[in-house]
This record gives sequence, structure tokens and C-alpha cells, in this order.
Amino acid sequence: MTRDEQKKQAAEAALEYVEAGAIVGIGTGSTANHFIDALARIKNRIDGTVASSEASALRLKAHGISVFDLNSVGDIPLYVDGADESNQHLQLVKGGGGALTREKIVAAASRKFICIADDSKLVDVLGAFALPIEVISMARSYVARQIVKLGGTPALREGFVTDNGNLIIDVRGLSIVNPPELERQLNNIAGVVTNGLFALRPADVLLLGSEKGVRKLGG
Ligand code: A5P
Repeated sequence: MTRDEQKKQAAEAALEYVEAGAIVGIGTGSTANHFIDALARIKNRIDGTVASSEASALRLKAHGISVFDLNSVGDIPLYVDGADESNQHLQLVKGGGGALTREKIVAAASRKFICIADDSKLVDVLGAFALPIEVISMARSYVARQIVKLGGTPALREGFVTDNGNLIIDVRGLSIVNPPELERQLNNIAGVVTNGLFALRPADVLLLGSEKGVRKLGG
């Protein structure tokens, strides 16, 4: 079974969390795309969606699924999204696709966050995947210098602009032993919009596709 088939397996399993008549928060990336495609089969049972990126909104609309502005809906019952890494506490690294800020907003506004992934994403300690940080353009050098002081090695994601018009700095070499503390620390650097640690608001359930079927953590 390929990694992509494992992602699809996890995405299909998330369908059972979708409640009739509800608004569903939708993540970004190849695993979230599988979820969007699966959701299309039951689109008449839901009220609509809130998307965490322009790319996901386009895919949803192509399936004829309604996409609402977050400001026009209240709290969302369910958010479904992938991740680049998860630890056993369901604290995540996200943002490989650069959609971390909107993903964090939709996750924060959702009562339940189901993370879907292939089982290679489960790690003992977060940080092997470079941690994405969205920054305001004028602050990129300043933020990079602060990251070096924290022990990280920053690299500007070349040729990439987020849906919010900002830049991404990918950080390697951070020792992420206390994810909530590092998440707060990075967010406190002037010019940082969001960092890709999802530890203050971790996932509630992690569905991992694997050779042996879907494994569930949390919930
Ligand atoms: C998008 O910005 C990310 O947070 C994705 O959720 C993450 O990169 C997982 O992507 P895949 O589902 O493509 O592995």
C-alpha cells in the first residue's frame, strides 16, 4: 500500500465524524484533498464547509460543495486536516503546504479536530520536519535572527507567498521538547503571523492509515 493510499484510507475514515446538516472545516494538502473527494459523495447531507486555503476552496467548489466565510458561521462542529508530523499527544507540525495560519484559525474555531495522515507522520519527538513560520515580509530578517538565537536554522521558502500575502520561513534544528512553550515563544516574535506548531490546540483524534488498516489515537 502506498503512502497516498494510506492517506486516502484515513480520509475515508474521517467521514464517519461528519454530522448531518453541519458545517465542516476543511484543511489543506494531499490528505485533505482525499477528504474533500470523499465528502463530495455525501455533500447533500451537509450544510457546507469553511476552507483553510484558496486551493481547498477551489476543490470544494469544483465538487459543487458550498464554501462559507468563517465570519458568516458560528463555531464549527468539526475540522478535518492533515499534518506533517504528530506526536503521541496529538501535538502537530503543520504548514508544509503553507496554509498554517488559516488552518490554525479554523482549528481554533472548531469544537473537534480530526487529524488524518499516513502512519509515517507519527513521531516520538516533533522537529525532524522543518517547522514553517509565516512572517510579514518586512520582518523576515529580524525573525530569522531571533530564530537563530533560539538555536534554529531558518530558510526562506523561495518563490512562495501565502494566501494572506506573507512569506514562509522553514526552520530546521529546533529541539521541540516542549511544543506548547515553543509555540508561544515563536508567536511572541514581532513579525510572526503564526508558526506551524499546533500544540496549544492539538488534534482531538488522529486517524492514521497503515498497512494494517486505520489506527485511531485520542478521542
Ligand atoms: C498544509 O499547510 C499543511 O499543514 C498540510 O496539512 C500538511 O502539510 C500535510 O500535507 P499532506 O496531507 O499533503 O501530507
